[in-house]
Amino acid sequence: MTLIELFETARARLQAAPLAYGQGSTNAHDEAAWLLLWRLGLPPDSDLSALAAQPVAPEQAQAVLALIDERIATRRPAAYLTRQAWLQGVPFYVDERSIVPRSLIAELIAAAEGTDCLDDWLGTHTQRVLDLCTGNASLAVLAALAWPEVQVDAADLSPAALAVARINVQQHGLTERVRLIESDGWAALPERYDLILCNPPYVCRSSMQALPPEFCAEPALALDGGLHGGTDGMDFIRTLLAQAAAHLQPEGVLVLEIGHERTHFERAFPGLPAHWLHTSAGPDAVLLLTRAALELWQGSPLVPEQAA
Ligand SMILES: C[S@@+](CC[C@H](N)C(=O)[O-])C[C@H]1O[C@@H](n2cnc3c(N)ncnc32)[C@H](O)[C@@H]1O
Repeated sequence: MTLIELFETARARLQAAPLAYGQGSTNAHDEAAWLLLWRLGLPPDSDLSALAAQPVAPEQAQAVLALIDERIATRRPAAYLTRQAWLQGVPFYVDERSIVPRSLIAELIAAAEGTDCLDDWLGTHTQRVLDLCTGNASLAVLAALAWPEVQVDAADLSPAALAVARINVQQHGLTERVRLIESDGWAALPERYDLILCNPPYVCRSSMQALPPEFCAEPALALDGGLHGGTDGMDFIRTLLAQAAAHLQPEGVLVLEIGHERTHFERAFPGLPAHWLHTSAGPDAVLLLTRAALELWQGSPLVPEQAA
């Protein structure tokens, strides 16, 4: 069997199965390529057409198809099967203790230029970075790699997720520059930061109830903050925003991912002067707040606590 014949068999099996994607790949073609290349020990960015005619030994082909069948039978995300995920070309260790790295904030860290380049909001004053809700530490690691001069605090409530984070920080040789902190929200974070990155739990109750098995395999704490979806998924973000200004330096900014929840977000935080940043998910999945904007909003009669 040639490699391309094996790939086509794998792709067809995935295509025919009722699988959910979005945890490292978005379709059966890419997922088949990922699993096949990983099982054969080939680089994940290999050009399949260049390898098309390469013969694959029967036992190797069997191993690839067994992995494809495991993906279909268990509905576990591919990254939990391979124990590896890639974000912006950077490899991360991953297992069921943290979600599969896929934050849109990674795109903003990686973009060196463009209308929504994060660098436009940063400067020589940017020394201290916080990755709040760090999980697997992918954003903390990407930030430390992108900005060699910064120190990063990476905080999470889950000791299990922090164990995964520790593996990634060590594998990237960043233990001197990325500090892992167990913290419930702001609780163990007395410092002020120049840049806060946060991909928080924000999945609302109805979305939690409709999650496909692949996403149920991830820690619920990472998706709904352990609040069983709250009502609108905004409970963690309420706590976050209430104290965010106090944890930012005067020129500091908070970059917050909210996925497809802009409606819930704007209903929960009316009048909040957010700067929406474009990502591959569109113009309203990630927003940026300056400390000045947060302070202005906190003085506004529209702040939920005051309006209630
Ligand atoms: C959506 S995941 C993000 C993980 C990682 N930053 C990423 O983008 O792949 C949210 C993370 O928030 C953490 N978390 C949930 N509630 C928290 C809380 N109250 N305080 C701190 N972290 C919390 C979860 O353990 C989980 O790792």
